[in-house]
Order: sequence, then structure tokens, then C-alpha cells
Amino acid sequence: MSVQISRVQVEQYPLALGIDESSPRLSWRFSGNSPNWTQKSYDVKLHRSSGTEEFHIDSSQNVLVPWPSKPLAPRESVKVEVKSNGDAGSTEWSTVNVERGLDGGYEWDLISGEAPSHGEDKSQRPFRLRKTFQIDSTTKGRLYITAAGVYEVYLNGKKVSTDLLAPGWTDYNYHLNVQTYDISQYLVQGENCITAWIGDGWYCGRLGFHGGRRSLYGDRMGLMAHLEVEGKRVLSTDQSWQWAYGSIISSELYDGEEYDSSLEEPDWQLASYTAESNWKKVEVVEKPKGEIIISQAPPVKEITTLPAKEIITTPSGKTIIDFGQNFAGVLRFKSNPPSSGTLTIRHAEVLEKGELGVRPLRDCKATDIIHLSKTSMKEWQPKFTFHGFRYAEITGWDGLSLNDIEGVVMQSAMERTGTFECSHPLINQLHSNVVWSTIGNTISVPTDCPQRDERLGWTGDIQVITPTLNFLFDAAGFLNGWMKDTYADQKENKGIVPVVIPNMFQGPKFNPADVDQIHQAHAIWGDVAVLTPEAIYQAFDDEGALRVQLEGAKLWLDKGVRRDSETRLWARDQFQLADWLAPKADPTVPGIGPTDNYLVADAYLIYTTRVCARICAKLNDPDAKRYDQEADKLTELYYHEYVTPSGRVTSDTQTALALLLHFDIFPSKDGSRLKKAMGKRLGELVTRDLWQVSTGFAGTPIILQTLADNDLLHHAYRMLQARDCPSWLSPVLLGATTIWERWDSMLADGTINPGDMTSFNHYALGSVAYFLHAYIGGIRLLEPGWKKVLIKPQPGGTVTSAKVSHISPYGTIKCEWVIEGDRLKVNISVPPNCSARVELPGLEEEVGSGEKTYEVDWVKDERFPPKPVQPGFCATLPDNWVP
Ligand code: BGC
Repeated sequence: MSVQISRVQVEQYPLALGIDESSPRLSWRFSGNSPNWTQKSYDVKLHRSSGTEEFHIDSSQNVLVPWPSKPLAPRESVKVEVKSNGDAGSTEWSTVNVERGLDGGYEWDLISGEAPSHGEDKSQRPFRLRKTFQIDSTTKGRLYITAAGVYEVYLNGKKVSTDLLAPGWTDYNYHLNVQTYDISQYLVQGENCITAWIGDGWYCGRLGFHGGRRSLYGDRMGLMAHLEVEGKRVLSTDQSWQWAYGSIISSELYDGEEYDSSLEEPDWQLASYTAESNWKKVEVVEKPKGEIIISQAPPVKEITTLPAKEIITTPSGKTIIDFGQNFAGVLRFKSNPPSSGTLTIRHAEVLEKGELGVRPLRDCKATDIIHLSKTSMKEWQPKFTFHGFRYAEITGWDGLSLNDIEGVVMQSAMERTGTFECSHPLINQLHSNVVWSTIGNTISVPTDCPQRDERLGWTGDIQVITPTLNFLFDAAGFLNGWMKDTYADQKENKGIVPVVIPNMFQGPKFNPADVDQIHQAHAIWGDVAVLTPEAIYQAFDDEGALRVQLEGAKLWLDKGVRRDSETRLWARDQFQLADWLAPKADPTVPGIGPTDNYLVADAYLIYTTRVCARICAKLNDPDAKRYDQEADKLTELYYHEYVTPSGRVTSDTQTALALLLHFDIFPSKDGSRLKKAMGKRLGELVTRDLWQVSTGFAGTPIILQTLADNDLLHHAYRMLQARDCPSWLSPVLLGATTIWERWDSMLADGTINPGDMTSFNHYALGSVAYFLHAYIGGIRLLEPGWKKVLIKPQPGGTVTSAKVSHISPYGTIKCEWVIEGDRLKVNISVPPNCSARVELPGLEEEVGSGEKTYEVDWVKDERFPPKPVQPGFCATLPDNWVP
């Protein structure tokens, strides 16, 4: 198959409509398997209203190339065509449309309904907005729209987009995303009607633990919209609109939605409707403080549906639907519920003693209440909430059957780019659990969990999962969008990155102790300012994003990190979350584990400083040298403080050793001897710990990679295949369908961990999937954007075959291997304009694009399974793993 372009993209936008940039960068991906195909030049045609412009550019670059012509004017639409040329022929032309937004020229007011009168104890009732307008033409209709709160918008009764919870969550004090919709198909000549529903969402709704607080960004929710036809404004939100309450009684993210179907008004969304007396004039209120921006992050959408799997009658006689999969989203009715009474739907992730297990939700009702009437409710789903659940307890629907209800899975609609499969069914289930936790925790912002009274943008969680997330999804736009708030909130907090972004723990509304904690400087969490931009750059070759975040990265290291005035290591009176949730820590004090918190924080500091030096060097920033020197100096001090001359580390733990080995923190002299000693000790420690996980947030993401990189692959597989808790497979063996916050979130006896902090959907510990893709599957990037790939499958344990794929900015990379007797058979695929280094037993070669098959001798690793060192004179140690 010849080489073709499979997709042209503008910046990182999923749809380049209403974009911010006047000179957007362009990228294209390839399909096809021509051998050794490289791009020599490319052609671009820009079809503008002034005529077609053609460009021929001699360049091998196909990722984020510069805009070739004069900038786009506000509102200008251009059809872009791209053709790539190689020695072995050219691709066909491929197309993308791009249209610039208004460049800030929105004319609109924030319009709202009634001023809240009940203080902050209750949520604000969602309301409707309505306005009719006349137009002569329906060509090129554009709606620029956003809200203080969340909204759904309709034209002539039709929902304008499939976006959910728009405009999404940003720190509204700094940024507010505007959406642009092509509404041409919904407009009619003559009289039209635009309507909207507004809910309190993240703007006014309750957020935060310990009871949370409401109205964190403002207490007047409302809509801002600007509608144009053929580039001329025909309508804006202003005093002439009307508002009324409707069928939604309340709706909040944590607590759920209450809906009264008898309050539905037919036809209220049509121009022909004559407004009842309950419609009142809107009030123009103060707009959110944040700058209006156009986000490259994909909007939240329904990404798939789940059928109900089973109806369970609980010991107490309740009816529960089991979806067979823990996820984040809502329920949808596929048929009509009874026509009278009230339905109550409670959501939870697990059952305990056969009943809904809601205790882990803490202060979060996660309950939808529906008052029924004769009004049809087919296709009904709540508008402005979501729940994290596998089970839904439904009261009030006699004769409920599996076909009556389905689950709607929500996520910021990133493109899925990575797959993994191997011969071990439980490892496949583990991988599936990681994918589902990643889906459930990328709803508008990267969150810790999607179910309890948090769902917050904990920075440490996303920092450790980013490399894995980038294997699974095209997360460039999503992460770049969130990083804008990271920098804004960090600047506000004097350089310290707050541990949650958006940082809503502001002001007098919260318990001062919580506010103080959130604003403290923590390694690993705050290091997101350096490590996440670097991870985005590596995965997507987005140098621009790196440039945007450079100030934040330096600010963190220069001002944010609280240092000891003498050593410049972390200050000793600064508490660190460090190796958070290490299994041997007291479950009620997850921030104090067996590895010294400062040893962890300082290792991260050295690594982050080194990465910052690399970023500076890449961007020709003169501070590169300063950071490199600082990292050398800190390394010296680190060894003085924590490492004996023979290479024993003061915390003799897996996390401590993994950090030093993985971050390559060694003094210039003696590095290889120390490295060897630490590798050897790590092997001893995992053996001593019976290959059970003993690491927390700092060590878990890297432990298996570190073992593999230090000639301890047999230990890595033994750990991965360990059976008993804490291990990756122990939750899988208990039926987990997502990654849990604690290895024992569910105890072996089927009761929920009694701790106050227990979630069944936390992605952080799922960072093990990096090992699955990169080491078992065998693909890793060697150059930013996957321009060069390392193909090095590392079979081991009892895994006898694996298959991995990743859609990189160049196209799809694949590696598939199987062991047959004493032969290892490998099929690979490298996209056009890329190269790879292939490393297999007894073979190393550099290859260009195309497909290739290898067959090499395979010698089983006789070190597997390593055996426990049995202590004499006492009980025999268990040796449990899943073959
Ligand atoms: C969150 C974590 C987070 C941690 C840090 C928890 O409540 O769920 O994932 O990183 O707090 O303190």
C-alpha cells in the first residue's frame, strides 16, 4: 500500500472552528507501509476567499509545521490541502478546514435568572433561557457561546451540539472556554428560536471535601452567546431574553439531578411558542473574571454506552442494575418508566454485603430523583451531573428490565491512540482497568477520582500518569488546556503549584487548614510544572507547548520549591506527601511511609532540575547551564545526606532505589559501581517483599521499568504476576474493572476498606500500563513525537505473546510477538517518515518505515520464577503468583 495522509490537524484542535491562533501550525499523519519512506518536501494549498495560494516547502517535518502564509483574519475560513512528497512518490492531497474565531470581538452580556436567596446551603435551581430572532439567510451561521455554570443550547428545538457539561471546568478567575458551533443546519429563514438550559456546574455548584463550598467563582450562573450569520452579528445575550424555571428542580455535580417530568412544557423551544406568564426578563449580571479563551482540549462527550448486564435483588429487597463495568457518566432511559410516582436512582462503585456501597462517596449523594408523569421520558438522562458507578439502585420502577436502561460513558473526547493485549488474561484485564480509570478521570480536567466529594485536579496524580495517558490517548490538547490553569494558579500562589488545579480552595469559604494544605509546596505534585510539559513535548513534539510552560517550570524551581537555605534541598519543615499511599504506611496516615519523605522529595527535585535544564537547552534558554550545575551540586549533597559510600541508601526501600536508578541520580565519579550495587539491592528487596508492591505514588509508576532496566526483568514479571495483596493482580482477582486508590480498597472478605479515603477509580497506580506498552509490548519513543522508535519487546514471566499499537503523530506503530518453542517471532510496523531501532535477542538494527517480520532464537529466562529466600527455623514464606 502506498503512503497516504490519514489526517491533517490544525494545532492540537479536534475541530479547527473558531480557533484563536492567526498562524496555526499544521500536522499530518501517514497511513501505508511503504518501506523506508521519508518526506522530502510538502505542498500546501490554502483556498481563501481571495483565491488559492500554493506553497512548496522543502522540509522533512510533518508535525506542527509553521503556517505558510499571511495570518488568518478573524472569522476567515480556509480550506487547507496538504500533499507530502518523498523519493518514492507523493501522497494524494488531504484536507482540513480551519476557521479563526472572533479574536476577542464577542459582544455579549452574562444573562441570568433569579438572584439566589437561600445562601449557600442549597444548590441553585437550573433555569431556561429563550429568545426569538429573525434572519433572511441561513448561510454560515456561527454561535460563539459560553456560560458561568454549565449549559445546553438549542436552536428551533434541536440540540446544537453533543458536548456535555460545556464549557467545561477551568479556573474561571483566569480562563473561560468559549465554544464555536456551526449552526447553519439549524437555522431557518424567518423566525428562529434559541433556547438554553443553565446549571450551576463547577462555577456555582458545590466543590471540595469536608462539606465543600458553593459559588466559588460567583453566585450568578448564566449564559453568554453571540450569534452571527455570514459574519454579521444577529443576536447576543442581552436584556431582551427571557428566563423561566422548568422541569429540572436541582442539579449538581456531586449530588445528582432532580427532575419533574410534569413540568415539561411542550414547544417552549420553538419560535411558535407563546411564552407563559412564568417567563420573566433576564438580569444582566457580572461576568466571570477570567479571560475568554478557545481551548484546544476536546469537549466532554458521550464516548460510548454500556448495556445493563444484570438486575440484582439485594438482601433488603432493593433493585440494583449492574453494568459490569465501573465508569463515570450517567444513566439513560431506553424506554418509558412508569407514568406516576417517583424514581430514585442511587449510584455506587461497589456492593457491600449485597447492598449499594455508598460510604466511599463521603459527602456526595450521587442520587438522581425523577418525579414521573405521563410525559414521555424515553432517552432521558440527567443534564448537569455525572456519577462514578458500576451499580445503580433504582426504586420506583416496577418491572424494570435490562433493556430499559443503558449507561452513558462520559469523557473529554480524546482520540484513543494506544492498545495492548497479551497472552495473560488477567494482565489484559489490568490493562482494561487502567484504560477505564483513565477515561473516568479525564472529564474536562485530569482528576483523582470521579465519584466522591473530590473529583479535583490533583497535580501529583496526573503527573505520574501522564506518560501512560499519552500512550493511550491523544492527550495533547487536553493537557495543554489544563496546564494553562496550572501556570495561572501557580503564579497567583507565588510560584508554588497548588496541589489541585483548578485551585478552587480559595478565600474564606473553606476551612483554613484545608486551604493551607492545598497551597503548600509538595514535590511530585508541584513537579507537574516541569515534568508534564516535558512529557507532552516528548509524546507530541510540541515545542510551542514547552515554550508556553517554560516560565512556570522555572518559577516552580526558582520560587516555588521551599528549600533549605544552606543546601538548597527541600526545607525540612515542609511536609511532603512524597511516596503517598505506600502500602506499609499506616492507612490513616498515607503520607508517612517507610521511605523518608525528604529522600523522595529531594530525588524528585534533582530529576526535575535536570529536566528543566533539558527544556531550557531545547529552547535555547541561557538558564540550561545553571540548572545543570544545580542538579550536579544537589546530587553531591544528596549522596552526602542519604547514600553510604558502598551504595546503601538510608531508606532501604524499593521506592528509594527505584528513584535513584530510574532518575539516573549518580555522582559523576563511581556512578556505575553505585548503580550496580543499588540494582543488586533492589533485587534483594523485591525478593524480601515477596514481589508484593511496597511502593506508593513515587515508586509505583517506575518500579517495573527500573527492574527491567537493571537486568532484573524476571523480578519485574514476578511482581506483575504476584497474586496476593498488595499487587496489581489482587484487585483484578477480586473482580476490579478499574484501578483502585488503595490496593485493598475492597478487602478480601468483600467489605469496603474502613478508611475515609477509599476510591475504586483512581488512575495513579495504573501507571503500570507504561510497562505493559513499552516493555512487554515493546515500543518506546527515542525522539520527540515518536520520530524515532525503540522496538524492544521484552518477553518474560509466563507471557508468551503480546500485541501493542500506538497512533503517533506520524502514524501507527505496531509490534506483535509470539514465542513458539525456541523461536521468538516478531512483526513490526513503523510509520512513514519515521525510523526505529529494533533490539531483539541476538539482533540489533536500524530500520526505516514499513512492515518487517523477524524470527530469532529464544532462550527462556531460567531465572523466572525467582523464589523467596526461605528463612530457617520459622514458617515457610508464601510464593503466590498467577501463572
Ligand atoms: C486524592 C489523591 C491525592 C491526595 C493527596 C487524595 O484525597 O484523592 O489522589 O493526590 O489526596 O493528598
